[in-house]
Amino acid sequence: MARTSTRSMAFSTPSIVLPLVGVAFWLWIKNRHSNRHYPPGPPSWPFIGNLLRLPGQHPWLRLTEWKETYGQTVYLHGLGGTTILFLNNVNLAVQLFEKRPTIYSERPRFTVAGDLLGLDKLMPLRMHDHGWKLQRKLARSAMSLDAVKRYHPLLEEVATMLSESLRVDPETFTHHIRLALSRVILSVTYGIPVATSDNEFVVLVEEAMKVISKATNPGAYLADLFPILKQPHALLFRNDIQRNRRIVQDSLNKPFDHVKKQIVDGSAPPSLVQQLLADEGDKEFASRQEYENTVKWLAGSLYLAGVETVNALVLTTLLAMAMNPDKQARAQEEIDAVVGIHRLPTLGDKGSLPYMEAVIKEAMRWYPSVPLSLGRRTSQDDVYEGHFIPAGTNVFPNIWFVSTVFMPERFLDENPPVDPTNYAFGFGRRICPGKQLAEHSVFIVIASILAAFRISPETDSSGKPIPYDARFSSGLISAPEDFRCKFRPRSEERGAQVRARAAAVSYVA
Ligand code: HEM
Repeated sequence: MARTSTRSMAFSTPSIVLPLVGVAFWLWIKNRHSNRHYPPGPPSWPFIGNLLRLPGQHPWLRLTEWKETYGQTVYLHGLGGTTILFLNNVNLAVQLFEKRPTIYSERPRFTVAGDLLGLDKLMPLRMHDHGWKLQRKLARSAMSLDAVKRYHPLLEEVATMLSESLRVDPETFTHHIRLALSRVILSVTYGIPVATSDNEFVVLVEEAMKVISKATNPGAYLADLFPILKQPHALLFRNDIQRNRRIVQDSLNKPFDHVKKQIVDGSAPPSLVQQLLADEGDKEFASRQEYENTVKWLAGSLYLAGVETVNALVLTTLLAMAMNPDKQARAQEEIDAVVGIHRLPTLGDKGSLPYMEAVIKEAMRWYPSVPLSLGRRTSQDDVYEGHFIPAGTNVFPNIWFVSTVFMPERFLDENPPVDPTNYAFGFGRRICPGKQLAEHSVFIVIASILAAFRISPETDSSGKPIPYDARFSSGLISAPEDFRCKFRPRSEERGAQVRARAAAVSYVA
């Protein structure tokens, strides 16, 4: 009964729909008669704007097409005063996000994810407030290049375990890769070792990630476009919201409380949380409580942001290698020449394998894992090159570039294109704090796999390779879909090296 009345309250009463229509109409009239010069964009329908011209799936493809017509910026607006600016040029993102940080460092508002699921303190979604600054400050020291060097032995061991799993059971390679990346982040943040993917913390965080990716998919909920629908949404989906809120809270609290308990009984292994909790915190924190809360949200942010993204880049690189056997062979020749054929690569080899590093850069350029980066929200009106950008506009850089040709050589050219590591991780104050860890993880995973295995497409019944059509998922993070390939040891000696190195691993779960 109660539910029925809630439903009718939410959607059938004119008390909600009419004000919305009124606001939209007023905004349309206001913008129509304003002589402000907005950035260019596709033609607008009266009243509902032009936002609906952008497809919900793989919007970066349409945006890239629009570059021809509208140039470097595409401005869209919709019902209820929603305004979105897409930047089809990396330099423009630098100009706005890096040179005007006071205007461009907020995040878009997610009514459902932020307000209703309680994720508004998660660093990637958090506004540019005091709490965000405290989290970033801790992240700066905990995720610096020097800090990441301390994790080198862990990264190498995890990459070795991954290679051994690929040798023994190559079919389920996507599962092994995901498990390896969960191992890295759970160990780095909480010192929690993971034997299998049914580990309670892995399961918990995977569930939380599903909730978060759905809730941050732009346009997934009407309440995100019309915050006025927040209460009706909360009432209508009360059970779902409570359940998802609990999942999210558990994913933050349980691993954190686990480390706190270990600290008390003296069994906590070194980790980011253990080290930060051993510190006093400094005077910027109002209380120990505020400090501990900041550590908890930081740790959760790193975990929730750090698995899916790296997974997407590793899979994209492997797909590119399977599709381009000549590039794969060149990377392997380089590894054999520099590292030698009697050992497997280590992180000490990073810097000596320029072609292999160009392969990873080219994978980032060819199909970026976060094609529209994470948005920003203007905190005040701005004017850029004569174009008016209203306060509250959501601004997204489109870093997807048209090119079906996978060519790592372009980065070894005398005049290489802009290095994708300078934009794939974002810009300015909100640049990805996990960049160093991501780059080192991807390097050791890809170098270990390329040294040991030949990666090839699956074959049909007559033994012919099945060609790829390279499909990628849509959403905030984009990764190869339905990707299959074979991993075969390149030689008996390489297979034996993987086995021997795996036998010496000290990682115990
Ligand atoms: C290939 C892997 C990765 C890619 C491509 C990537 C990309 C990005 C991008 C584009 C942003 C938005 C930056 C901006 O707004 O300018 C971001 C933010 C973030 N990333 Fe990453 N990331 C990766 C790996 C990681 C890892 C491994 C971690 C954690 C260990 C991590 C943690 C975060 C966090 C916490 C934020 C939010 C920063 C803020 O809002 O202030 N990322 N990342």
